[in-house]
Amino acid sequence: MTCRRGALIVLEGVDKAGKTTQCNKLVQALQDSGRHAEMMRFPERSTKIGQLINSYLENKSNLEDHTVHLLFSANRWELVPLMKEKLEQGISLVVDRYAFSGVAFTSAKPGFSLDWCMNPDIGLPKPDLVMFLQLNPSEAAQRGQFGTERYETSVFQKAVQQKFELLMKDPSVKCQVIDAARNIEDVHADIKNHSVNAIIAAENEPIGELWK
Ligand code: TMP
Repeated sequence: MTCRRGALIVLEGVDKAGKTTQCNKLVQALQDSGRHAEMMRFPERSTKIGQLINSYLENKSNLEDHTVHLLFSANRWELVPLMKEKLEQGISLVVDRYAFSGVAFTSAKPGFSLDWCMNPDIGLPKPDLVMFLQLNPSEAAQRGQFGTERYETSVFQKAVQQKFELLMKDPSVKCQVIDAARNIEDVHADIKNHSVNAIIAAENEPIGELWK
C-alpha cells in the first residue's frame, strides 16, 4: 500500500437522532478540507439482498426474524470488497448504520441473544470510530412522528437504545457517545473533530476485523 488508507467511520443511534443529516454534513466538511470521503449506508437497498430487506421494512413482505437478521448481515458482507477497495485507495467512508444496528435491532426482539446476533458480522472491516448519537426517547418524540416502516415505534426504539448502550461498552471497539440533543452545528463540530482524529490515527494502521 503506497497511499495512506482511509478511515471507516460509523454513525449509529436510534431513529430521529440525526444520523443521516450528520453523515452528509461530515462528508461535505471532510471534502471541503481536501480529504477524500464518501458516504455509505446500511441497509444498502439497491442490491438484490437490499431489495428483499426494503420490502420487509416497508411491510410489503414478511420474513422470519433469523432470516432477516442474516440478510442484513449479508447486505454488509456483499459490500466488503468495495469498502476495502475504497479504504485502500485512501477514501474515508462515513457509514450511516452498520453491524451495531444489526445487533441492536434483532436482539431487541424476544428470544435473541447478543452473541447469536453478533456472530454473522464477526470479521467485517472494523470501524476506526463509531459515534453513537444519543437522544432520549422523549426528545426523539419531540422531533416528530415516526414513519410507517417496521420498527418505527417508541416502545421498540427504547429497547433498541438499551441494546446499543450495551454494545457501546465493548472495549474492543473505539466508540464515542455524542449528545445529539444539541443543535445541528454543535453536534457536527463534535463529530468532525472526532473524525479528523480517527482519520489521522488510522492512516498507517491495517484495517481491523470487527469483534475478533
Ligand atoms: P434506515 O431507516 O436507516 O434506512 O434503517 C432501516 C431500518 O432497518 C431501521 O429501522 C434499522 C433497521 N436495521 C436492522 O434492523 N438491521 C440492520 O442491520 C440495519 C443496518 C438496520
